[in-house]
Amino acid sequence: MRTVYVNGDYQSETEAKVSVFDRGFLMADGVYEVTSVLGGKLIDFDGHVARLERSLGALDIANPLSRDALLGIHRELVARNAIDEGLVYLQITRGAPADRDFVFPDPETTSPTVVLFTQSKPGLADNPAAKTGIRIIGIDDIRWGRRDIKTVQLLYPSMGKMMAKRAGADDAWMVEDGFVTEGTSNNAYIVQGDRIVTRPLSSDILSGITRAAVLRFAGEARMEVDERPFTLDEAKAADEAFITSASTFVMPVVEIDGIALGDGSPGPVATRLREIYLEESRKAAI
Ligand code: PDD
Repeated sequence: MRTVYVNGDYQSETEAKVSVFDRGFLMADGVYEVTSVLGGKLIDFDGHVARLERSLGALDIANPLSRDALLGIHRELVARNAIDEGLVYLQITRGAPADRDFVFPDPETTSPTVVLFTQSKPGLADNPAAKTGIRIIGIDDIRWGRRDIKTVQLLYPSMGKMMAKRAGADDAWMVEDGFVTEGTSNNAYIVQGDRIVTRPLSSDILSGITRAAVLRFAGEARMEVDERPFTLDEAKAADEAFITSASTFVMPVVEIDGIALGDGSPGPVATRLREIYLEESRKAAI
């Protein structure tokens, strides 16, 4: 049985509770982070904390925990649950006022709810999907306009994954005004010749922590990166494509809407970036 963290206490997953009035539950009024664990250590921890602070700030939720306190909780959960490879999920909501109300509660009387739990995923780094690549479909992006805030409003991404599943694919890329925004829970890239193309940061997409690291490593490896929007048709005609996220690292995409990219197997750029990312991230893990 897992040990989880709720508002200062380490509890069994079956005992831990959150109020029915919690605004995360009633209004998706909360933010989250997912940090991967390799060899029992946290990957890109400081990037996730920095983005958490930005998300909380954008929603006017006071950050209840310092970076060091968060690190302590992450490490404690990894240790108590004996996680070698997996994820730590963190969610902070605006808290649970005494009643349902659209108006934000007074932060003096309602403090944020903090929940963290681990997910053990043996084989996360050696994921067989990275050897075959994944298949995606294109869907409309009908999400709200502040996708740079990592909120827990994940209904449409969740529906998108189901649309992909029903279509016999693994995931979906969302398209707005003709251009790909991002994947349901990852950033999207194509490779044209020796150039990596990915949408620039804005409120249209989440600023991926894995994205930042991968673009840095790509630059260090002297790969050319164009941060510009691309269309789904460009993606279908690309030499390669891939996604990045804390849970998939760098994952090759081999098929879009039933059209195979290149020879239908993971391309050299995605494969190399995955290797570099895993190697460098393990070195820097804390
Ligand atoms: N998702 N874009 C979206 C919409 C995401 O939900 C995520 C992460 C990313 C990639 O961000 P990062 O590299 O920091 O993980 C991009 C997490 C993994 C999730 O919801 O499980």
